[in-house]
Amino acid sequence: MAEAAIGGSAEWASYEEAGLRFEVDGEIATITLDRPDRRNAQTFATWSALARIGDTLPQQVRVVVVRGEGPSFSAGIDLRMFTPEGIPGEGSFAASARLDEATFEQQIAQAQRGFLWLRRPDVVSIAAVHGHAIGAGFQLALACDLRVLAEDAQLCMKEPALGLVPDLTGTKPLVDLVGPARAVEICLTARVVGAREAATIGLAELVVAPEDLAGAVSDLAAALLATDRGAATATKRLLQAARERTLEEQSAAERREQVARVRALFAGS
Ligand code: ACO
Repeated sequence: MAEAAIGGSAEWASYEEAGLRFEVDGEIATITLDRPDRRNAQTFATWSALARIGDTLPQQVRVVVVRGEGPSFSAGIDLRMFTPEGIPGEGSFAASARLDEATFEQQIAQAQRGFLWLRRPDVVSIAAVHGHAIGAGFQLALACDLRVLAEDAQLCMKEPALGLVPDLTGTKPLVDLVGPARAVEICLTARVVGAREAATIGLAELVVAPEDLAGAVSDLAAALLATDRGAATATKRLLQAARERTLEEQSAAERREQVARVRALFAGS
């Protein structure tokens, strides 16, 4: 299995080489960040592999769980990107800085593709977060629809402290969830947000003991799967668009979706 990675490598990384495991069990897919010796640090190969999972997700999958192996959910981007030699086969920030703007932006867009599909209406994505979720790790959790946190979870938007901006699609969901003022405070101080605070400010749907994380995610997935798929997809589509619409526009969208639902449910009766 091969995939074009940042930095010009023509080779595609296998999921294993990209530091991921991908498993499907019926309607539930599980993506495991699986580089525990590096605290599940992410590279461009990781993001390309995530995009490939989104592109090829089996049709029957309705719930996608994103979790981390070992002591951390993810310690963010692989810090070798900051070194002159970079990550073998993937490049470095120093090399990217020499690219023309369009090419560099294209590389970032490819990385963002790995995150964006997690919000598509026909699936519900759940981040199961324990330990550190730093930088790209925090953004991956934000890319998911729902976040279940272990009590030891520590969220940190480290990018500004390293001279960067969060660019892996995390700024919008963060602002949507906590509002612009709290988002500015969290990002520009790069402080750690613990699990309890995360739940209080809207960054977590559920906080559980670390040993209960897998069970809580499994229970949530089962509850989500108990809902009719067509209704779930249409409802998620409505809810996602609600913030950008006026009440009248949203009411019209509800009407359109309901007509399609009722027709689908009662066709032929
Ligand atoms: N990239 C590459 N390797 C990493 C990363 C990373 N982001 N994070 C940890 N590792 C490696 C360490 O170098 C260490 O390797 P070694 O055993 O060969 O020395 C191993 O993972 C374990 O790390 P420790 O620091 O020993 O683990 P600890 O549990 O004490 O601390 C923590 C974990 C807090 C996550 C710490 O490793 C850390 O601060 N990592 C860097 C976080 C960071 O700044 N990420 C970038 C954010 S910005 C962005 O994502 C765009």
